[in-house]
Amino acid sequence: MTEETIHKILSRYPHRRSALLPLLHLCQQEAGYLTDEALRLLSKRLGLSPTQVVEVVTFYDMFHLKPGGQREIWVCHNLSCSLLGAEKVVRRFEEALGIGAGETTQDGLFRLKRVECLAACGIAPVVQVGAEYYGPVSPQDVAQFVERLRAQSAVSNQGSAFLPKADG
Ligand code: FES
Repeated sequence: MTEETIHKILSRYPHRRSALLPLLHLCQQEAGYLTDEALRLLSKRLGLSPTQVVEVVTFYDMFHLKPGGQREIWVCHNLSCSLLGAEKVVRRFEEALGIGAGETTQDGLFRLKRVECLAACGIAPVVQVGAEYYGPVSPQDVAQFVERLRAQSAVSNQGSAFLPKADG
């Protein structure tokens, strides 16, 4: 991240500390996770203690302190999704990927996570991959869903044009 980028983002906020979230996102976009170096830099530039920075990072599911899968598969397991079968969906993903929730596949391509409400309860059970939402996802859909993700990753990392999309 360049000094110019940091300056530009800082200029949008009356208090430097308010720029923490956008700067964390940028740092993570660049390295794939939040490096110690990035956390030190933000702590210094925003006038926050290292503890304050880590408190924010660990509060949010979308930030990572270790390198992980290139793509994150998030399965909502909150109330609406649970009532409509999210646990079975999670189990099918675990089987299809050969990992448990919270883990990364051996090839480093995917990380599976259980997450709280994705604010798309109307299409529960909901799965999110990158910026795309999918739902309702049935346990029967999962094996094919993973196959498509793998094929897509093998071809390129661009978009998700041929994945099933959420109806709503
Ligand atoms: S409970 Fe799953 S999206 Fe809201």
